Amino acid sequence: MRHLISPLDFTTEELDRLFDLAADIEHAPSKYAHICEGKILATCFYEPSTRTRLSFESAMIRLGGKVIGFSDANSSSAAKGESVSDTIRVISCYADICAIRHPKEGAATVASSKSLIPVVNAGDGGHQHPTQTLTDLLTIRSLKGRLGGFTIGLCGDLKFGRTVHSLIHALVRYENVNFIFISPEELRIPDYITEMLKEKGIPYREVIRLEDVLPELDLLYMTRVQKERFFNEEDYVRLKDFYILTTEKMELAKDDMLILHPLPRVNEIDVEVDEDPRAAYFRQAQYGVYVRMALIITLLGLAK
Ligand code: CP
Repeated sequence: MRHLISPLDFTTEELDRLFDLAADIEHAPSKYAHICEGKILATCFYEPSTRTRLSFESAMIRLGGKVIGFSDANSSSAAKGESVSDTIRVISCYADICAIRHPKEGAATVASSKSLIPVVNAGDGGHQHPTQTLTDLLTIRSLKGRLGGFTIGLCGDLKFGRTVHSLIHALVRYENVNFIFISPEELRIPDYITEMLKEKGIPYREVIRLEDVLPELDLLYMTRVQKERFFNEEDYVRLKDFYILTTEKMELAKDDMLILHPLPRVNEIDVEVDEDPRAAYFRQAQYGVYVRMALIITLLGLAK
């Protein structure tokens, strides 16, 4: 039985197979419309979500399976004090695969250690968000035609943004990826990540001004400031609009630079930028369905 807790749980060869499957699903969805008939996905979300929960549910329904779950810890027995370990043991009796999102780092690991069914980490605190990473990688591979050989700027809340942490861990396995971290001082990328890059000899820079590096980028990964992880409101208010990508700033960027964003967006990308053909974030959300369909098929052992 396989789980997906970190993006490193799959080798790059396994990821290639997963992305090939996702691409086949995109082009011939009817081939897969019944593959999960009789199977049930449980979505256990202790934190809010639009994309991750609904794309998982859409993925399972598009594969012919069914979905159960909860979208709010207060509507589950967690509100009565039940542990994640006990909940997953019980969910194992009801479903064939489970996607779990939890505010505590490590919750998905705990769940996987007690589970009798495959567990997918759908985000654990500020730690990891591996299915967002699969979505990001599939988007880059599909729209750029390659994984590697580019300069990527990651901009915004690099301290708390779990999508950023997961994506960096995944991208270091590919050739010639140059990282530029763009953040205010207070939201810098954690030291454990820069230490890891130094150990691996992977080039990176840290800057504060987006405009200074925009012309160099092949990919710009924007993130929102993670309000829910701040200890005080004042700091959040001071930092929340630190970066706003506008059509004027986009004039500095390469013609084929792609803008990615895991979403939700707050103010960090002006809505006028949505009309720019380089804005790829809504296409990215669509790739999230294909890659989660491929993941469900793979973890259930249904891939040929
Ligand atoms: N990208 C992402 O995780 O979005 P949700 O929080 O809406 O699931």
